[in-house]
Amino acid sequence: MRIFLDSANVDEIREINQLGFLAGVTTNPTLVAREGRDFKTVVHEICELVDGPISAEVISLETEGMVSEARELADIHSNVVIKIPLSENGLRAISILAAEDIKTNATLVFSAAQALLAARSGAAFVSPFIGRVDDTGNDGLQVLEDIVIIFDQYLLDTEIIAASIRHPMHVVEAARMGCHIATVPYKVVKQMIRHPLTDAGITRFLEDWRKAGK
Ligand code: E4P
Repeated sequence: MRIFLDSANVDEIREINQLGFLAGVTTNPTLVAREGRDFKTVVHEICELVDGPISAEVISLETEGMVSEARELADIHSNVVIKIPLSENGLRAISILAAEDIKTNATLVFSAAQALLAARSGAAFVSPFIGRVDDTGNDGLQVLEDIVIIFDQYLLDTEIIAASIRHPMHVVEAARMGCHIATVPYKVVKQMIRHPLTDAGITRFLEDWRKAGK
């Protein structure tokens, strides 16, 4: 499973990219707004830093507006993928953009039914929001697993991005079920790296080394 960073913060992205595993980045309007910077500049900077799919989301609600925003964003860099919210207008936009070879990421996906439609409309990626499904008292990982099974069954090319990740076990479970990608917030990447036994082990090794007069 590939790991994307779910962030619009260029410093975070630069730092995590240096660790060597980063395969792409996803942003959303909330993450971009938090930065208080020009959207297209941020997207351009991320594309310069990370060599992989970089998702940038449209904010129009009508198909025509989505498509025209998408064309502008796609012009920023060949790695830009257009995030389109799952709706009737969104599916229409995904289908138009697929015909123009502009890659899309169907976002705000909360069910296997939505994911299947997005894939059949031509989305390159679908993003089920597993944490937000959990928040409603339902099982986000079950929704994700249904999507993985259905896409495997029909050999769909659309890649599945486990999104709205809240903790390391979301990532582990997504990988166990064969999900293609997880987009992970900075804080959760840090949680994935650290383990108390690793820290204790390092301390112990250093103490033993010093005790032996090395
Ligand atoms: C995915 O592409 C979204 O940006 C993101 O995962 C949403 O996560 P949240 O539910 O933590 O806002």
